[in-house]
Amino acid sequence: MVACLVGVVSSQGTAPLPDIRPDTRAKPDTPWQVHVAYGSPASTSLTVTWQVQRETRDAVVEYGSTPKLGSRVDPLRIVYASATGVTYAAKLDGLKPASTIHYRVGRPGAWSQIFATRTAPSVPTPFMFTAFGDQGVLAAGRQSLADITADAPDFHVLLGDVSYANGFQPIWDAWFDMMEPFAARIPVMPAIGNHEYEKEIGPMSYLGRFTLPEDELQYTFDWGDVRFVVANTVLGMTDAQLEWLDRSLAQARKDRVRWLIVCQHFPLFGTTAGRGFNMPLITRESAVIDKYDVDLVLCGHDHVYERSYPVIGRKPVTDERTHYRKGMGPIHVIAGGGGAGLYKFAPRPSTFNAIRELTHARLRVTVPVDGALRVEAVRPDGSTLDRFEIAP
Ligand SMILES: [Fe+2]
Ligand SMILES: [Fe+2]
Repeated sequence: MVACLVGVVSSQGTAPLPDIRPDTRAKPDTPWQVHVAYGSPASTSLTVTWQVQRETRDAVVEYGSTPKLGSRVDPLRIVYASATGVTYAAKLDGLKPASTIHYRVGRPGAWSQIFATRTAPSVPTPFMFTAFGDQGVLAAGRQSLADITADAPDFHVLLGDVSYANGFQPIWDAWFDMMEPFAARIPVMPAIGNHEYEKEIGPMSYLGRFTLPEDELQYTFDWGDVRFVVANTVLGMTDAQLEWLDRSLAQARKDRVRWLIVCQHFPLFGTTAGRGFNMPLITRESAVIDKYDVDLVLCGHDHVYERSYPVIGRKPVTDERTHYRKGMGPIHVIAGGGGAGLYKFAPRPSTFNAIRELTHARLRVTVPVDGALRVEAVRPDGSTLDRFEIAP
């Protein structure tokens, strides 16, 4: 199906070309690009999405708490104009919190392998998640995938700019094919990036290919007593988006979540050359983030690693490098080094910068039941470039 893409120039830079493998499925209707995400709520609901070449009447997910499976659910066929194949998506509801779910997708005679994934817990539970943005399908994006695979997180947050298909749909196929060994087992929760708004079709492929909570462009999910608020910043925070963010953060505080983490593509306080601070977004969003005492704001878009001190009222409140207390102010992290070509920094860091480094990197965020939340940024060679803690 996507056997040959020689001659395609990636917008992630000039050569090398995307490493797109031939479609090696034994049969054309064997599922591929299988991936899972949390449904609503994440503790009892999962979604599974996959693609086949031909429509079949008997597409199904078989699942259960053991590899013997035993339960079945019919998927929806997801129809969208930019599709390269037939997409099916199924919601597995009524699952047990913090439980392993074994499943396979397809139809009799053309099954995927049996994968195992897990629901989120409903009570405080220690966990670790990984995050980065701006991945693509080139060698560095594949390395990032290998790195998070080795990290074995409970789930992965993708901070936007996913495949860089930019209107050339087989690149999406290549990204999901590349991700399947990870994403069929570990829920991947993306925030939409500007590269997911493709020319002429907007976010159609993104919406068609991912199956996410709420309206998919912005949503929240809980992992134990930690809330993730995944915002859509690509349209510059419209009134409706800002109202949604305000309402979601207010609800999180009402629900007394222990940690409150905003995930979005566009950063506020970047120091990339030619970009710098995003003043329109700062004007729209920073007061809302401050108002609800968000603990972490995780962003992509700038293909660099940089991280602020705690910031309140558009000012850093300390120059302490590594140890913080909850309530000092939101800490903004730009983890746009998921694999796409790196940018350049403006010559001088800003007074907001606790650290900045031009490198590919992923975040590992470790959340214990008691004690400090710990964030590490790790280079592809395994060395740690940033590490900080927020004590409760
Ligand atoms: Fe971007
Ligand atoms: Fe990007």
